[in-house]
Amino acid sequence: MGIEKTFSIIKPNAVKKNAIGDIIHQFETNGLRVAAAKLTILSKDKCELFYAEHKERPFFGELVSFMTSGPVLLMCLVGENAVLKNRELMGATDPKKAEAGTIRAKHGANVGENAVHGSDSQDSAKRELAIFFDKHEIVNL
Ligand code: RTP
Ligand code: MG
Repeated sequence: MGIEKTFSIIKPNAVKKNAIGDIIHQFETNGLRVAAAKLTILSKDKCELFYAEHKERPFFGELVSFMTSGPVLLMCLVGENAVLKNRELMGATDPKKAEAGTIRAKHGANVGENAVHGSDSQDSAKRELAIFFDKHEIVNL
């Protein structure tokens, strides 16, 4: 609780459909601020490191291939209770099960191409932010 940092990715399907602005608008109108942002294409190595916890899952290959298929927007979001707040705004992993009005309900295509990633705990947020950002790239707001 309190002011937290979380890690967010706008995934290739959402960048492709020009939804960056709409997704950031959801964050900014719900108490989250962008403290770092990088538009990039993930390397296979970094993507596999990032998703290491899913290495043994049947969808791992598909996941890495999708996540490296085009530009993504990597962000550090900051705000009150940011980890949970971001997960609420994202909605369920499967867009078909995501509550109406959530980012995944609006911009997700299917369970793989589900528009956004968000850290699932403060420990994950620290680990994930450290993979993609140097400390000095995250501004104090
Ligand atoms: P994320 O890590 O991306 O924020 O999503 P999450 O916590 O809601 O879901 P997680 O279980 O961590 O899964 C990571 C990502 O893997 C893809 N996935 N595909 N084909 C499938 O059955 C399947 N299940 C998960 C999704 O892109 C999910 O976001
Ligand atoms: Mg996850």
